[in-house]
Amino acid sequence: MPAIVRIVDLVKNYYMGTVTVHVLKGLNLSFDEGDFIALMGPSGSGKSTLLNVLGCLDRPTSGHYFLGDVDVSDMSDDQLSEVRSTYLGFIFQSYNLLPQYTVVENIELPLLYQGITLDDRTKARCVGLAEMVGLGERLDHRPLQLSGGQQQRVAIARSLVNDPHLVLGDEPTGNLDSRTSVEIMQMLRELNRSGKTIIMVTHENDIAAWARRIVRLRDGRVESDTRNDSRTVVDLG
Ligand SMILES: Nc1ncnc2c1ncn2[C@@H]1O[C@H](COP(=O)(O)OP(=O)(O)OP(=O)(O)O)[C@@H](O)[C@H]1O
Ligand SMILES: [Mg+2]
Repeated sequence: MPAIVRIVDLVKNYYMGTVTVHVLKGLNLSFDEGDFIALMGPSGSGKSTLLNVLGCLDRPTSGHYFLGDVDVSDMSDDQLSEVRSTYLGFIFQSYNLLPQYTVVENIELPLLYQGITLDDRTKARCVGLAEMVGLGERLDHRPLQLSGGQQQRVAIARSLVNDPHLVLGDEPTGNLDSRTSVEIMQMLRELNRSGKTIIMVTHENDIAAWARRIVRLRDGRVESDTRNDSRTVVDLG
């Protein structure tokens, strides 16, 4: 399997006045196309920071990030936004839906941001995605008329509308009860089985257990890297 993501000596610092916060301290990781990865680690270990870099929402301070064959580390804001809208899908803990828009309109949003004209074809695609996540009866509902789990399903459908190569989730089940979390994880597993590469941050072992590979960060470094069949991917010892 070719690597879809490769990071080399990735460093991320935040500068706050005279203080430098060293968050990612030289990470080397490679993720295969088609894999399902859980990023774990204590609060403050750098999980969201890493996910933001992987999602081209932020740039590394130094080091390289190859998405496929392309080094995106030094791209301009415009180029990064192009990469995001073409290759990446995002699912957030708090769903991030627009309350005034319907289910279908929320799913359409990334297309609008890409400057694609909405027509019957794009609409049919969004309706199809809503049906795929089990919301075929809720097409004209607005987020506040939906449960948390349903809102997260809208967000999953939205993350797929551009047919991304890579889907990134920051604690996608963080606001959901355990039963609804299982529904969402079943959906992500199906997506992964259909070929999507997924990288997901989670605090919870039983959520990470759905992934194929678990990378644990501690204090900005990789602490462990295991397959869910408990084979070690990279021997850090
Ligand atoms: N924009 C920022 N400016 C300054 N420091 C930041 C910024 N974003 C994050 N940090 C710091 O970087 C460190 C890592 O934060 P990050 O959000 O990546 O952690 P996390 O592993 O996702 O934690 P959590 O599990 O609580 O979500 C923390 O010490 C945090 O305070
Ligand atoms: Mg976080």
